[in-house]
Amino acid sequence: MSQPTVPQTFRAIDVIRKKRDGAELSRAEIEGLVSAYTKGEIPDYQVSAWLMAVVLKGMTRPETAALTDAMLHSGDVLDLSSLAPKKVDKHSTGGVGDKTSLVLAPLVAAAGVAVPMISGRGLGHTGGTLDKLESIPGFNVNLSVAEFCRVLEICGCAMIGQTAEIAPADRKLYALRDVTGTVESPYLICASIMSKKLAEGIDALVLDVKTGSGAFMKSEKDAAFLAELMVETGERMGKQVVALITDMDQPLGNMIGNALEVVEVVEVLRGGGPEDLRELCLELTGWMLHLGGVSNTVAEGKQQGAKLISSGKALQRFQQMVELQGGDPRVIDDPKRLPQAQYNMQVPSLKAGYLTSMQCEQIGTACVILGGGRERKEDSVDPAVGIVLHKKVGDRVAAGEPIATIHYNAEAKAARARQLIEASCLVSDAPPAAKRPLIHRVIGKSGENN
Ligand code: URA
Repeated sequence: MSQPTVPQTFRAIDVIRKKRDGAELSRAEIEGLVSAYTKGEIPDYQVSAWLMAVVLKGMTRPETAALTDAMLHSGDVLDLSSLAPKKVDKHSTGGVGDKTSLVLAPLVAAAGVAVPMISGRGLGHTGGTLDKLESIPGFNVNLSVAEFCRVLEICGCAMIGQTAEIAPADRKLYALRDVTGTVESPYLICASIMSKKLAEGIDALVLDVKTGSGAFMKSEKDAAFLAELMVETGERMGKQVVALITDMDQPLGNMIGNALEVVEVVEVLRGGGPEDLRELCLELTGWMLHLGGVSNTVAEGKQQGAKLISSGKALQRFQQMVELQGGDPRVIDDPKRLPQAQYNMQVPSLKAGYLTSMQCEQIGTACVILGGGRERKEDSVDPAVGIVLHKKVGDRVAAGEPIATIHYNAEAKAARARQLIEASCLVSDAPPAAKRPLIHRVIGKSGENN
């Protein structure tokens, strides 16, 4: 006699247990979990447990594909085919002081490639593009799809967050991962990034996969694994994708903290700014323009980018985007209009020598402690606080010379941040043996022969 069939109803607890025990989840189980969470039918604590099981047990390729697809289809997928230029975006896996998106969107748009950018908030010790943009008084990262498309049509770039309409599953999962120690999984990072990016209606994507002490993927091997996972996912969906493995063993640029980073973005768009930040922005621009079909080679794209900065066109485009998204465009000429912390404090070097390393994750954590990031989901960020670095790895430093300045609004938080920064900066008698490259390697079929 055949067994009666048991009706299959979705139960979060079964999916959590199955992943905890290391078994492979079916597409239906993953879709069930993502859909129930997006609709608010299962609580944060169950999804947190499932996320932790994924961090510990990993995911197979079919599971990763199912998760990406479920997150992508949790909302609308934009059709931007009516826009004439190619649509190209860039996304970073997260770093400290990484403000390249704010430079790239207007710069690449000024070259004639459209940049529809859906970004995230701060995650763990890393900063988030949305929090940086929101430090500009009035800037609205919550545009409707119609408004997003309007801004894109007018100025060639628009920058928003995951919404109730686009990638809503990532919006909820991202906020939960931020505060539950569940960021550091290549499978979750891949699904989070690729679901947002594939929802944007892009033709091509440049990924900036960070490696080093301030990255989620500390070793180059782990960064390459994540890069390959994302490139494979994008190519499966018919997109041109290239991933640059770039260095995050020390913060990028000198400023860390939301409003401070906007100041540095404006410096770069004016043709100044720190060398490492400028160099990475131009390299990523070169790739975006090359994949966007407006330059024959990456090198030519870099040159075009440099010209658009020196002519002032990229900065004008940034100002236009800020205004179209409701932000105060006067901050570009007068950065004092950005939120300013009440106090600042220097962190002097305890000895003379060379700055040989920085524990970059701890520097990012120091900024979170100051209030520049979140420790709980419901926390709001303080846009004004942050850290300005006066030294980079390899620089000489005298005893008592400031390595950093902390911008703060609360004494106790500043004291904790100072301890972390002091413990993170290693000053030695001899300079570091070798300089780490800014670009480690390039991954992806679209990256061959350029
Ligand atoms: N950026 C994202 O959008 N998601 C992640 O999980 C990590 C970095």
